[in-house]
Amino acid sequence: MKIIAAEHQGFCYGVKRAVAMAQECIGMEGNIHTLGPIIHNPQVVKRFSDKGIEVVNDLSSVDDESTVIIRSHGVGPDIYAKAQTKKLTVVDATCPHVKKAQQAAYELLQDGFAVVIVGEKHHPEVKSILEWSNNQGIVVETVEEAMQLPLIPKLGVVVQTTFSGEVFQTIVNVLQTKCNEMQIRRTICTATDLRQQSALDIAAKVDVMLVIGGKNSANTSRLAQLCHDAGSRVYHIETAAELRVEDFSGVETVGITAGASTPDWLIEEVYQKMQEFNQLLDNEVIKLEQGSIVKGKIVGIRKDEVFVDIG
Ligand code: F3S
Repeated sequence: MKIIAAEHQGFCYGVKRAVAMAQECIGMEGNIHTLGPIIHNPQVVKRFSDKGIEVVNDLSSVDDESTVIIRSHGVGPDIYAKAQTKKLTVVDATCPHVKKAQQAAYELLQDGFAVVIVGEKHHPEVKSILEWSNNQGIVVETVEEAMQLPLIPKLGVVVQTTFSGEVFQTIVNVLQTKCNEMQIRRTICTATDLRQQSALDIAAKVDVMLVIGGKNSANTSRLAQLCHDAGSRVYHIETAAELRVEDFSGVETVGITAGASTPDWLIEEVYQKMQEFNQLLDNEVIKLEQGSIVKGKIVGIRKDEVFVDIG
């Protein structure tokens, strides 16, 4: 069985930075919290919680003078103000790309533009950008929504960092017909596109694709969906424990990718498990069959049963 790794997979720059910043907080004095899960990966969140860093959903449940870590998606100005009132130590792990998008929304508003935020309405990053536009921005997620906008004289456009470049361009083309003057801040970050493109590069060539990452991670689920749409048999797994050797009998090539919120140690465990399967499936075994000895290859193992192909 040949295993092919996607060229770009796993933690992006912003997530790596946020996790490293949270890591540095371990052992600090006082209560430490993350505002929302630090990343959409339950195993990483659990590791931090085991070390005393707990998730909170709003600052009202946080004691004064404790520490709060802002995750890579960022937050609006209200949160910084609230944190100051409660004398919290803020560890700001907002991804610098997200900061740029927030700053762009703020500046466009100051310059008299009506702000349009192209992105997913319920995504925390989009909510944070909206707050930086003083909640005056209009969130546009689809081409249809862009078409429904009225004529706006001065339009300033910002985009969610992980939004599809292709869909963004189509929306911009529509927005151009809706205004007299437009300023566009292209705040898309390349990490998502690179991961999707390299997953698709291998999905077409393999029998099975393994997509590693949180089931609650939007970018990982999107990778799995894209590979599925490309015609692959896809297993979206969070950990190596979900792999079953019988799913790989007769499989010649396996592609592996991981979402931007999947840590290296979880990816490594999957590679190790696949190497074990490889050895197991390649080994010739001798099996006693109704009194006679036959040779064959293991093609599957379920509980205590070993399935052997005797050729
Ligand atoms: Fe930042 Fe891009 Fe990752 S915006 S959090 S580096 S996907």
